[in-house]
Amino acid sequence: MRPLRRAVVLGSGVMGGAIAAHLANAGVPVLLLDLDGAIAAKGKERAVNAQPGAFFVPSRAQLVATGGFDDGLEQVAGADWIIEAVVENLDVKRTLLERVEARWREGTIVSTNTSGLPVHDVVEGRSDAFRRHFLGTHFFNPPRYLKLLEIIPLSGTDQPVIDAAAAWGDVVLGKGIVYAHDRPNFIANRIGSYGFRKAVQLMLELGLTIEDVDELTGPLIGRPRSATFRTTDLVGLDTVINVSENAYHNLGDDNERDVFLVPPLFREMAERGWLGEKSGSGFYRRVDGEIQALDYTTMEYRPRRKVTLPSVAAARLIEDPAKRLRQLVAASDAGGQFLWRLVSSILIYAGKRIPEIADDVVNVDRAMRWGYAWDHGPFETWDLLGPADVAGRLAADGRAAPPIVQAVLDRGEGTFYRTPGGRREYFDLTLADYREEPGRPGVLVLADLKARNRVVDANAGASLIDLGDGIACLEFHSKVNTIGEDTIRLMHRAMEAVRQQFDGLVIGNQAKDFSGGANLMLLLLEAQEGNWDDVSLALREFQRLNLALRYFEKPVVAAPFGRTLAGGCEVVLPAARVQAAAETYIGLVETGVGLIPAGGGTTEMVRRATARIPPGSEADPTPFVRWVFETIALAKVSSSAEDARNLGYLRDADGISMNGDRLIQDAKDACLALVRLGYRPPLRDLIPVVGERGFSALETYLFLLRTAGQISEYDEAIGRKLAHVVCGGRVAYRTRVSEEYLHELEREAFLGLVGERKTQDRMRHLLQTGRPLRN
Ligand code: NAI
Repeated sequence: MRPLRRAVVLGSGVMGGAIAAHLANAGVPVLLLDLDGAIAAKGKERAVNAQPGAFFVPSRAQLVATGGFDDGLEQVAGADWIIEAVVENLDVKRTLLERVEARWREGTIVSTNTSGLPVHDVVEGRSDAFRRHFLGTHFFNPPRYLKLLEIIPLSGTDQPVIDAAAAWGDVVLGKGIVYAHDRPNFIANRIGSYGFRKAVQLMLELGLTIEDVDELTGPLIGRPRSATFRTTDLVGLDTVINVSENAYHNLGDDNERDVFLVPPLFREMAERGWLGEKSGSGFYRRVDGEIQALDYTTMEYRPRRKVTLPSVAAARLIEDPAKRLRQLVAASDAGGQFLWRLVSSILIYAGKRIPEIADDVVNVDRAMRWGYAWDHGPFETWDLLGPADVAGRLAADGRAAPPIVQAVLDRGEGTFYRTPGGRREYFDLTLADYREEPGRPGVLVLADLKARNRVVDANAGASLIDLGDGIACLEFHSKVNTIGEDTIRLMHRAMEAVRQQFDGLVIGNQAKDFSGGANLMLLLLEAQEGNWDDVSLALREFQRLNLALRYFEKPVVAAPFGRTLAGGCEVVLPAARVQAAAETYIGLVETGVGLIPAGGGTTEMVRRATARIPPGSEADPTPFVRWVFETIALAKVSSSAEDARNLGYLRDADGISMNGDRLIQDAKDACLALVRLGYRPPLRDLIPVVGERGFSALETYLFLLRTAGQISEYDEAIGRKLAHVVCGGRVAYRTRVSEEYLHELEREAFLGLVGERKTQDRMRHLLQTGRPLRN
């Protein structure tokens, strides 16, 4: 991969500022330029204050320098990548690129972030050499969080330039790369805005409500919770209107162009300033904590209504997404009619767009999954419903299936994808045959390995999978990946298997989140029944496991990502190395349910903190212990993997993968590196604790917090139990204790708390509402 040492971002608006921030997240120094230095500085400031955060941690902002075009353009020579993200105006972009070219030197890649202008128009007038280095790179907002990066090469773009931009996007910035053709709105916004506009059209025609449409176009059909109108409120109706107008204006050759016509309802809303979140009201608004929805027939807001469509109620009971979708589009009520017409229209529209917007179905499906967070892209949806069945129903409706579907039915096996021997292949229109899905080097997919019979051992909670090259992967797969008896049993078996036939172990999975912790429901049941012995035994087992992981003779690499909470965090802590996805929200959150970490997590945090004291030093461990205490007592969760370093959950030697899809491969590589370096487990050592003296200090601290009203009386009580553990109990200052001794204190504290009514109330509340209770 060509190194990305320095980048320049032109334009410090919504996108420019956020793209610069994300480059800084990746450790790339950036120069952020705008009309003048003050505007650029303001743009950077906006990124610093963005919610959700644009920077992983505030200190990253130091990598972003700001300036005006006049002086700043002098510095573009020598940059590896210049990203243009100024206003969406062809003349402005062209004039700016002309100025850039005057300072540009061969080798520097230049790209435009335009979302609607033809990329070839933007670069018109520039030299051939410049054009060979030019392409479109279309980020989605917010670029840190949205996975998709559309790359739009032009016919004159050099292949190494395309490859470098793709590698930077993928490996350095962690994006999912899709190759789009230079057609209006590229792939995701073309299909996405078509689907959105079609949904509005059908809503008006069938007289459905805003809530109906959001219910029908959300998780029920594998799309995000924000569905149609909450997404619009987030994006802003003005932006949505711009995209639609751009499509309508530029799509003279699209036979469904009229779908993009902006409906009077949108014009009316825009005139009233109802643009969504940013203006306080859109399709929804919040008044005194109550969410109201727009009744578009009266143009008045009214309290949000429950959706009563029979098709929806029936579909909610179906787990399997394919079955659910099939039943929904077959339903005869307004919900069913809406979805059949919407989904079939999108399927036809997407089917006709190949090869117009992309070479193949893979790029289209990936674009919709990564850019719009659909669980299934349009061609994957064709397969869910069955192309032959859909084509049959279309024919009955008097509508034609697109030629690509006919080809799949005539010359293919009747589906767009097939998976012979565990490798996914797609139907290629020009070839009229199947091809292997373009691999993503560095991306290991556990499901593929499982399909290729690489499972070594498994039970209901977890599997052990052979990753090849002597490394095995322990995958959790229980509901929300909670850690229960099954998981623990399999982990013990996994260690035994690794001891015998592998060189190292990766603990990782590819679900939505790494792990939600222990099974709270089970724990609550045990507590209500007063099964203290069982609880104690389970804790002891979990502690024993985590200690065994820490001192295991072969390297263990944990690969957390997304939410990695409580018990999930405790499994990560003992690993020889952690390779975390950049977006990792890790934390010991037990106090939130009135407990303390008692799977060895409290002990390990104390061990780590005191290990920071140089050997032989007389330094006072109290501030280190207090740091750990605060992290656990306040149930701090990292806002990124980088932030997890600050909280002590990750160590300096632990690695971060910008691209979460690469995590398993990266963790495997990290594990192999340890193997090659002759890994030996750490030696056991005693832990210096602060004892009674430290406890009094923490007690005072808790008292102050409580009298200041920052914590409740019960928080204080939990805090005292935690303080007892982190200080090592009632022993003398600087006594050296074993991990087992601290484990015993963890168990005692936990058992003392789990029997309390208020702790059980907290657990119940979290289970019922998903939110912590402060009592
Ligand atoms: P913005 O309006 O927030 O920022 C545009 C920036 O251009 C401002 O900082 C402004 O000072 C600067 N500017 C204004 N006039 C200029 C001139 N004459 N010469 C040079 N710079 C000038 O716009 P935003 O949303 O950041 O969009 C930037 C680009 O990214 C556009 O091409 C847009 O289509 C594209 N885009 C926007 C997305 C979004 O969600 N906002 C998503 C993906 C792409």
